[in-house]
Amino acid sequence: MAEFIINTDNNVYVPAEDSYLLADNLLIKEGQSVLEIGTGSGIVAMYASKLTDEITVTDINFDACRLAEKNFRENGIENIEILFGNMFEPVKNRKFDVILFNTPYLPTEDGEVLEDTINYAFDGGLNGRKVIDVFLNEVGNHLNEGGIVQLIQSSLSGNEETLDMLDKSGFIAEIAASEHFFFEDITLINAYKI
Ligand SMILES: C[S@@+](CC[C@H](N)C(=O)[O-])C[C@H]1O[C@@H](n2cnc3c(N)ncnc32)[C@H](O)[C@@H]1O
Repeated sequence: MAEFIINTDNNVYVPAEDSYLLADNLLIKEGQSVLEIGTGSGIVAMYASKLTDEITVTDINFDACRLAEKNFRENGIENIEILFGNMFEPVKNRKFDVILFNTPYLPTEDGEVLEDTINYAFDGGLNGRKVIDVFLNEVGNHLNEGGIVQLIQSSLSGNEETLDMLDKSGFIAEIAASEHFFFEDITLINAYKI
């Protein structure tokens, strides 16, 4: 999988199986506009850049924005827009054809919260849905007609709840792929705006 040079940083999520579950299953057509929320090292966006030239990424962790910028530069990828900020805040009035998010999906007790910015990579709150629910409530406002959402979460953070929320927001959604690890399945959920 060493297709790109991938620098890492102690404060930024290191690409793992969940990153590649998304990167290997991207539903992006040439010329489509893509938004990746929570780019981390930029790994998923780099795979997306093989499919389209119009990519914007965001992260709430400034260390991630800086690392993604370095990884894009060292891989000769020049046209990915990098925006620092919370969720859709940096792209307020903008819409995209495809929106990607490998979410922080781990159910996390108060005592497990880390003080470093790396905490943003994992912490899904007590039920694992703290960030997923905010994303699902807003994502429809940022998608073009016929747009697609691709998100990664865990069976521990409630696949059915995600499918229900998407259904109620007017999407056709499915678990498109999953991988089993110890106590959980990591799932890729694809949702089509109708
Ligand atoms: C599981 S990591 C995924 C990183 C990378 N996309 C990958 O697949 O390897 C989740 C990323 O989402 C970012 N993140 C968490 N909450 C966010 C929010 N509210 N707005 C933007 N980014 C967020 C984290 O900082 C982290 O980089």
